[in-house]
Amino acid sequence: MGNREAIEHMKTIREQVRIGGGEEKIQQQHDKGKLTARERLDVLLDKDSFVEHQHYSRGRATMFGLADKRLHGDGVVSGSGLIGGRRVYFSSQDFTVLGGSLGEMHADRIATAQELSLNTRTPFIQINDSGGARIQEGVLSLHGYARIFRANTLASGVVPQISVILGPCAGGAVYSPGITDFVFMVDKVSNMYITGPDVIKAVTGEQISHEELGGAKAHAANSGNAHFRYANEQQCMAAVKHLLSYLPSSADEQPPVVDTGDPVDRRTPEIMEIVPEEERRSFDVRTVIGVIFDKGSFLEVHKDYARNVVVGFARLGGRTVGIFANQPSVFAAALDINASDKAARFIRFCDAFNIPIISLADVPGFLPGVAQEHGGIIRHGAKVLYAIAEATVPKISLIMRKAYGGAFIAMAAKGLGYDRVLSWPMAQIAVMGAEGAASVIFRREINGAEDPNAARQQKIQEFKEEVMDPLVAAGYGYVDDVIDPEESRIALVKSLEMLKTKKVESVRRKHGNIPL
Ligand code: HXC
Repeated sequence: MGNREAIEHMKTIREQVRIGGGEEKIQQQHDKGKLTARERLDVLLDKDSFVEHQHYSRGRATMFGLADKRLHGDGVVSGSGLIGGRRVYFSSQDFTVLGGSLGEMHADRIATAQELSLNTRTPFIQINDSGGARIQEGVLSLHGYARIFRANTLASGVVPQISVILGPCAGGAVYSPGITDFVFMVDKVSNMYITGPDVIKAVTGEQISHEELGGAKAHAANSGNAHFRYANEQQCMAAVKHLLSYLPSSADEQPPVVDTGDPVDRRTPEIMEIVPEEERRSFDVRTVIGVIFDKGSFLEVHKDYARNVVVGFARLGGRTVGIFANQPSVFAAALDINASDKAARFIRFCDAFNIPIISLADVPGFLPGVAQEHGGIIRHGAKVLYAIAEATVPKISLIMRKAYGGAFIAMAAKGLGYDRVLSWPMAQIAVMGAEGAASVIFRREINGAEDPNAARQQKIQEFKEEVMDPLVAAGYGYVDDVIDPEESRIALVKSLEMLKTKKVESVRRKHGNIPL
């Protein structure tokens, strides 16, 4: 072959790589309302930044009818590019080639991109659209998944890992997203399950559609496997980019600082309008977050799951912070199993990636009930305590109203490792609420009183003043400052500033053993 023919040949193969499974399959993909693997990268990456890796790799397996299906690329596009000028590595499965099924070379492309992401300390984004393990390739495929899971695990806490589910993701394939930090899904496009509706029907007799079983809503609201849910692929990709804008590229870096234009000395008088006078009445903590943190900067994570806690990223004076807040408008903010899992994983992400944690407390305790006890609230709740205790990033708490019992410890206890605890004057800190406390301690006196009702009210009042008042905790030094709610933003900005250079060496050990 002469030089010119060699170049032409290369161009022909390159074109074959570009069209993947061919025009007909691309049309089928579009007919399902889906973009192709390469179109997705066009939406995700900065213009002209895409560099393909192992561009021409081709399946080697020939068994069980695969000999004439050895398409270039092997059903996945992998490489590197820029998002907002910052480097990422990625893989994007190509459903038009053998249903995006994962064979030996397909897996090698993904695992190699993962290794490069780790070695270059840049985030990894995996776009999943696949029929799962390539059935014909048997153990080659299973070995490939094993490599990917291991690479996900070794990169955990070193580089941010994001899974974007834009098609089927079935069987053991789900465990790669299951290990990564954030999972994005799109309504009527994404499906994730270990076993699909047909197998479930055969085994248990239950009937359910693909969407109900493993669609975006099911995982965003019920299982908690998805952190973000969108109506279409474009919105989903825009959201991936938005999330990355809060994160450092790796644990070796600090998160980006941006000029949000929101003054750091802005007072927050709106809080008095939001938080009801009557302590039993609830409010939406997201409105408080919206007022205190840089305007429009709150990015809620796991919005539809375990809504009794609210977690997410925001900016304060332009710096990324992780917010861990009780949500009084759901279950009165009691912490349960799912909320504990949600909070603990978020806190550990923040800690791994140098993102200070700010907790906003208004919580009556852990949720009582047989289902919670038997479901393991002890070990699930323990995760939150463990996650806060081991985190070495700046940890700041603002007690808004109630902070009782074990939930106080999780949200605001200096003994657990919070560096700075602030409180609004109307907050209450105690082992339990005043009614319960009065009944336990003064039951005999109350029952024996001439007017038991009046006696109970008096004991409740005494308890509130002598035990629950945040000035009492402040007197012991367990609350650093009792502040006017109008000063909340200013006080948190100053707290963040004074902890900016915090550096704590963890105890040397192989690793801890977080309760699961
Ligand atoms: C090989 C596969 C495949 C697979 C799909 N294809 N899945 N080839 N291995 N796993 C091929 C189809 O034969 C077809 O080829 C093309 O991809 C498109 O598939 P369709 O079925 O036509 O598409 P659609 O109707 O959209 O259905 C998509 C689907 C279905 C729901 C994903 O294909 C499906 O159920 N596939 C099997 C899913 C599965 O059981 N996978 C194994 C899971 S277990 P042609 O040539 O006709 O175009 C697993 C274990 C992993 O993954 C363990 C890791 C730890």
